[in-house]
Amino acid sequence: MASVKDNVLAALAKVSGPDGKPLTESGALSDIVVGDGKVFFSITVEAAAVRQWESVRARAEQAVRATPGVQSAMIALTAERAGGAGAAAARPRVAGGPAQGPAPGPARAAGPAGIPGVAAIIAVASGKGGVGKSTVAVNLALGLRDLGLKVGILDADIYGPSLPKLLAIRERPQAAGGTRLKPIVRHGMAVMSIGFLVEEETPMIWRGPMVISALTQMLREVDWGTLDVMVVDMPPGTGDAQLTMAQQVPLKGAVIVSTPQDLALIDARRGIAMFRRVNVPVLGIVENMSTFICPHCGARSDIFGHGGARAEAERLGVPFLGEVPLAMDIREKSDAGAPVVAAEPAGAHAEIFRAIAARVREGLAAESRPAPKIVIEA
Ligand SMILES: Nc1ncnc2c1ncn2[C@@H]1O[C@H](COP(=O)(O)OP(=O)(O)O)[C@@H](O)[C@H]1O
Ligand SMILES: [Mg+2]
Repeated sequence: MASVKDNVLAALAKVSGPDGKPLTESGALSDIVVGDGKVFFSITVEAAAVRQWESVRARAEQAVRATPGVQSAMIALTAERAGGAGAAAARPRVAGGPAQGPAPGPARAAGPAGIPGVAAIIAVASGKGGVGKSTVAVNLALGLRDLGLKVGILDADIYGPSLPKLLAIRERPQAAGGTRLKPIVRHGMAVMSIGFLVEEETPMIWRGPMVISALTQMLREVDWGTLDVMVVDMPPGTGDAQLTMAQQVPLKGAVIVSTPQDLALIDARRGIAMFRRVNVPVLGIVENMSTFICPHCGARSDIFGHGGARAEAERLGVPFLGEVPLAMDIREKSDAGAPVVAAEPAGAHAEIFRAIAARVREGLAAESRPAPKIVIEA
C-alpha cells in the first residue's frame, strides 16, 4: 500500500512549475514531512522568481490537501537571493525522491543546506513555554564558549524572543552591506534575535510563510562568520510552526529542556518525537528548575519534583544532560541581562552549565563520526 508521502509525491508530480516541469523535478522541494495526516514542506526558489511561484505553491497546497490520508498541509515558499554568498548551487536538493518505497540512505541527506562557516547548529527546545528554555539556551551557549568553541546564538522564539532582555541588548543589528546584517556581539558570542526584526509592541501574529522567511533571513542573511556551534532558541511547543522550523534549520541535534513534573515531561516527550520525525538527533534532556536550595536555611526542596527528566530520558533512550537547580541567582542574573555563566563564571551554576555543554559537545562529536547509521523509516 502506498504511504501518504508517496501519495503526496504523486500528487505533486502532477503540479507543474513556471517552466512547465513537474514540481517533483524542479529541485525546489525540501524533504516532505508527514505526521498525523499533516504534511509540511517548503519550496525554495530564487528571490526574483517568487512571484511566478506563489501560484505554484497554492496549487501544490490544493493538490496535497486533496490527497487521500492528508488532513492539512502547510507549504512554505522560501526565497534565496540569486548568487548570494554560499551560492544556491551548493545546496543539496531533493528532487522529490522516488515515488515508491522509502528514500534510500540516511533521511538527513534531504535536510536543508548548512550555513557556510557554521560547523554545527543545535536547537534548544521545550514542549511548553516557561520551563527555562531561553535561560538554558543562553547559559549553554556561554558554557560552550567557555570550552573554547566559537559560538553564535539565534533567538528564533517567535512567541517570546528573549535574548534582547537576557543579554541586555538594546541596539539594532547594523547592515553588513547589501541586505546582509551583522550580528550583535555579546560575551564573545554572535547574537541574532527575531526580537531585533520586529517592534517590541508588535503583536506576534505569524503565518507559516512569514515565520520561514524571517528564520531564513536570520540564518542565511547574517554574517555569522566562522562558528563551531550555533545555538538556536526555538519556539516552545510541538505544533505546526515548530515542526516547520525544525525542518527548515539544518540542525545537527536538539536539546530538550523540561521541568521535572509529569505534565512538562509529557510535552518534552512530544518534543523528542517531533525531532525524531524530522530526523534530527536528540542530544539529550536538561532538567531545569530541579531541586530548590533555600538561600536562607540551605534546606532542599523539590518544588516541581526531582529526577523526572532523568527517568524519562532513560525511558526514551536519550542522554540525560544534567540538572539545573531552581535558584534565585539564575533568575536575577537573567533578568539583569548577565546570564549566570557570564556573571559568575567561578560559581556552582556556571559549573553545571559547563558540564551540560561538555556533554552536548560529546553528543555532537558522536553524531559527526562517520559510523554507519541505520535509519529505520516508518
Ligand atoms: N533554573 C532556574 N532558576 C530560577 N529561575 C529560572 C530558572 N530557569 C529559568 N528561570 C526563570 O524562569 C522564567 C522563565 O524562563 P525562560 O528561560 O524565559 O523560559 P522559556 O524560554 O522556556 O519561556 C524567567 O524569569 C527565568 O529567569
Ligand atoms: Mg524564552
